[in-house]
Amino acid sequence: MRNNEIKKNYLKKIKEIAKLNESYYDKNSPLVLDSEYDLLKNEILNLEKKFKFLDHENSPSKIVGFKPSKTFQKINHKVPMLSLANAFTENDLMNFEKKIINFLNEKKNFEIEYSAEPKIDGISASLIYKDGKFVTGLSRGDGQTGEDITANLKTIIDIPQLINAKDFPKEIDIRGEVFIKNSDFKKLQDKFANPRNAASGSLRQKNADDTKKIPLKFIAYTFGFEKGLKIQNQENFLKKLSEWGFKTNNLNKTIIGTQNLMTNYNEIEKKRSDLDFDIDGIVYKINDFKLQKRLGFVANAPRWAIAHKFSANSGISKILDIDIQIGRTGALTPVAKINPVNIGGVTVSNATLHNEDEINRKDVRIGDTVKIERAGDVIPHIISVDLKKRIKNSIKFSFPKKCPSCGSETIKEYNTITKKKDAVRRCSSEGFECEKIVIEKIKHFVSKEAFNIDGLGKKIVENFFKQKIVRLPQDIFTLDYNKIEKMEGWGDQSVLNLRYSINQRKKISFEKFIYSLGIRHIGLENAKLISKNLKSPVNFLHLSKSNKIEELLNIDGIGETQINSIKSFFSNKINQKVVNELFKILQINNSFDTKKNGPLKNKTFMLTGKLTGMSRAEAKSLIEQNSGSIISNISKKLNYLIVGDKPTKRKIDAANEMNIEILTQKDFIKILNKTS
Ligand code: IVH
Repeated sequence: MRNNEIKKNYLKKIKEIAKLNESYYDKNSPLVLDSEYDLLKNEILNLEKKFKFLDHENSPSKIVGFKPSKTFQKINHKVPMLSLANAFTENDLMNFEKKIINFLNEKKNFEIEYSAEPKIDGISASLIYKDGKFVTGLSRGDGQTGEDITANLKTIIDIPQLINAKDFPKEIDIRGEVFIKNSDFKKLQDKFANPRNAASGSLRQKNADDTKKIPLKFIAYTFGFEKGLKIQNQENFLKKLSEWGFKTNNLNKTIIGTQNLMTNYNEIEKKRSDLDFDIDGIVYKINDFKLQKRLGFVANAPRWAIAHKFSANSGISKILDIDIQIGRTGALTPVAKINPVNIGGVTVSNATLHNEDEINRKDVRIGDTVKIERAGDVIPHIISVDLKKRIKNSIKFSFPKKCPSCGSETIKEYNTITKKKDAVRRCSSEGFECEKIVIEKIKHFVSKEAFNIDGLGKKIVENFFKQKIVRLPQDIFTLDYNKIEKMEGWGDQSVLNLRYSINQRKKISFEKFIYSLGIRHIGLENAKLISKNLKSPVNFLHLSKSNKIEELLNIDGIGETQINSIKSFFSNKINQKVVNELFKILQINNSFDTKKNGPLKNKTFMLTGKLTGMSRAEAKSLIEQNSGSIISNISKKLNYLIVGDKPTKRKIDAANEMNIEILTQKDFIKILNKTS
């Protein structure tokens, strides 16, 4: 599914749940059974887990147990809660400083003092104190109007309820960030996509008792309106905050000049992974309040402050452990379990190390501090190790020589094309003998491009395997539905749905059938080529007999690698049994849609060089549509060699030697024209 379709489907579900919520909470009249509600809720949570770009304020992930009440009272902020402009590079910082110097009409070498404060990625809140008493707490809302969340904020231990200090202003609006520590978030990870969502969900609970259940923290950093504040700069204000009993960030610093800001930025970015809370950058504020006042605001951001953001697609963390995952083709992939780190809004706790060679090349070890990159939807990966931070007694990672799942030897194959050993180490067992490989094979079998069985997601396949409900692909078609119905998470309707989708898939195209077997090196394209060549599915069943597999070498696109893989597949008894059993159960349709008795019947072609105005693929498809076939080696079986621009001389010589007819592109077109 494309991202926009996924989003459309997700939003449909969000709309549905919003309707159910409204009826249940606001009108006190449930529209559906609780179980149905939970099903919908789980579907939404699963989608969010799978596709990190999904996010909506009405999502159940933002709400623990209760929907945030619409009845939070709206209150105007006396001083708006503004946002900050962003800087990403040193150049952005220099421009920021230059503009300030210009605005203040100062000399180029004017030294500016900044308060540099790590920017915690949480939810901002405004706390109004009157005569030292915390009276009203507001969320940011749209910046102009917030929601009265006083009761929820009062549950936060870091927020002082009463301040007796003599120099505490008569009235003041203290502002800061509400957040959740990463270590506390770990316990809630199933419910929320990231710590920020957890904090936001908790803060907006209808019932303050539910807010209490999630340990929220508060760090203060600025103020809104005030009566009687006698302080000249941000540095002193932060000191006072802490004297008054607020928590402030102990990484806050006062710094002069952009050069020093950069040094601090780099140091903090390195420390980022050791912190127990997420920061997404550093906020720089002109230290002097008088200058702040002069500089004022532009649109909805102050001219005197900027947020220097960390790059969104990389993060630094520590390796807690290295797991070895086994894929469908037996490849052993090392995966680093890392201290969860927020990279561009997504909490990352696993990062791939690709293969044995890669882990050796980078000498990645457990306990190392590493840089992780996440781009788009690809799996996050480790880019580099910070050797300066390596712990003293760290030991080199030793890659397992035995498969961690089945204990078979692991091997590195010799690649005949690169003339080198593969970078990947593999389990040497033949597929269905290794548990981890079987599970992956079954996942592949039911996947979108193969059997496309709705309702058999990865987690369900794993569970069915564990429960011994499905051990081999054919078991999917003889499921014990009575047993499944009694399992946790299943009900009449979901079992009915599963049964329906499985029955629907008993008819399958020949090419998809070949692909679904998960034979190494036989992807969809090759499966298509083989099905076209074999024509009838029965021929596939007979492949293992005699020398039939070798004949596939005549297919253009199928080489030794594929042939060896097919041979090795059929040489295994369990594989043969799987194919035989599937043939008994399924109706495999011959997807061959070209002319059976076309004019090029029994004629074989080979191409060398580039054709003009026609791609190789098009020429090939034209030949096949007319019942001819393409072969990839020059042999006695070849009838025509079509020669384009810059052909391989060796092929022409060989064809001449064997008296094979040579065609120019013109000749070839003539033959085709005769046929139509
Ligand atoms: S000062 C006008 N200081 O960043 C001043 N904000 O985009 C604005 N934030 O909504 C706030 N740490 O949630 C300030 N030390 C800090 C901050 C901080 C985090 C957040 C805050 C605000 C956002 C600005």
